[in-house]
Amino acid sequence: MKKSILITGGAGFIGCHVVKLFVSKYPEYKIVNLDALTYAGNLENLKEVEEVPNYFFEKVNIQESEALKAVFEKHKISDVIHLAAESHVDRSITDPLAFVKTNVFGTVNLLNSAKEYWKNNFNQHLFYHISTDEVYGSLHDGSFFLETTPYDPQSPYSASKASSDHFVRAYANTYKMRTVVSNCSNNYGPNHFPEKLIPLCINNIKNNKPLPVYGKGENIRDWLFVKDHARAIDTVFHQGKAGETYNIGGFNEWKNIDIVKLLCQKMDEKLGREAGASEKLITFVTDRAGHDLRYAIDATKIKEELGWEPSLQFEEGIEITIDWYLNNQDWLDHVTSGAYQDYYSELYENR
Ligand code: NAD
Ligand code: DAU
Repeated sequence: MKKSILITGGAGFIGCHVVKLFVSKYPEYKIVNLDALTYAGNLENLKEVEEVPNYFFEKVNIQESEALKAVFEKHKISDVIHLAAESHVDRSITDPLAFVKTNVFGTVNLLNSAKEYWKNNFNQHLFYHISTDEVYGSLHDGSFFLETTPYDPQSPYSASKASSDHFVRAYANTYKMRTVVSNCSNNYGPNHFPEKLIPLCINNIKNNKPLPVYGKGENIRDWLFVKDHARAIDTVFHQGKAGETYNIGGFNEWKNIDIVKLLCQKMDEKLGREAGASEKLITFVTDRAGHDLRYAIDATKIKEELGWEPSLQFEEGIEITIDWYLNNQDWLDHVTSGAYQDYYSELYENR
């Protein structure tokens, strides 16, 4: 096998699409999915590859250095694509330390494991770190985030991701490790955990439950279909230049309230409801603390240098997404049972 790639966080939303893409597209690679299976990790996301011979799974927490060492040795890891993280901003507001432990400490642990296993001889190896546009802060004018935009993280989540990005670059500078970082905008699509805006609204519309819109719903996000992000990761992994950063985004900005209304309209049609019925569920609730106003990625560099651009228009992607949720009720039932109910009532019911 040409490469043995460790993909961390492969049981999560974006990770499962990256794993599925790499397993099917590169049968000559060994793909090792390492995941702690937190509330956000779900092996059901990977059913279609679990029997494929080049796919392997290791249930390991990136905070455990001995377990990481054993995985590097067992699978002779040649490259890392690092997605494992605590990823939800609201949870970072209630429990910042969990984000420091996984996103900062866990990432440094992983960097150390790679450095030691590769024995400081980095020529044939790549450490690819997946990051977010949130590290650049909040936009209040019409500008866009460039790769050169100074970091200005505003939430415990984005501060922890910014810190991990800095550590990756510090390992490149100090130890000459070959690293690459990409910073992506908001993803949407199948397998998205329903604590995030789009799947939460789809689930609540379906169940005739209130749609909690923070503040006035004026905040803006730039949405990209998750499989286009997975394609971008494939492109950066194979063609990106070590030491570089690539911004990934859809040039697709939406105010939250407009997204929620679009979902209501599309789901009224699909569920055979009277036009306007689901919009009545919209409920404006207390704003998120320190809520970033706008994110917008300038994805020109990855297009011009590596030839990647989104393949799907938002209208098409959102149809695929809604249909996936409507056709995968079992998946939704499994992830919204138990601990999800406690999380949901604590966060939303008195807001
Ligand atoms: P997710 O929360 O859906 O999945 C995270 C995965 O990491 C889960 O499978 C979880 O079990 C695993 N994990 C968490 N802590 C771990 C630990 N200590 N050890 C091992 N595994 C652990 O997240 P996602 O939305 O798929 O995001 C993946 C990555 O992409 C993250 O690094 C995130 O910061 C980044 N990102 C996400 C978005 C987005 O819109 N979702 C956008 C840009 C960047
Ligand atoms: O920009 C990339 C980031 O996008 C990723 O790094 C994060 O991992 C990912 O979670 C996402 O962060 P956001 O905070 O933008 O996503 P979320 O779906 O939580 O919220 C989207 C917007 O919708 C945001 O402005 C907050 C708002 N919102 C969210 C929820 C969950 C609501 O109005 N109501 C809600 O119930």
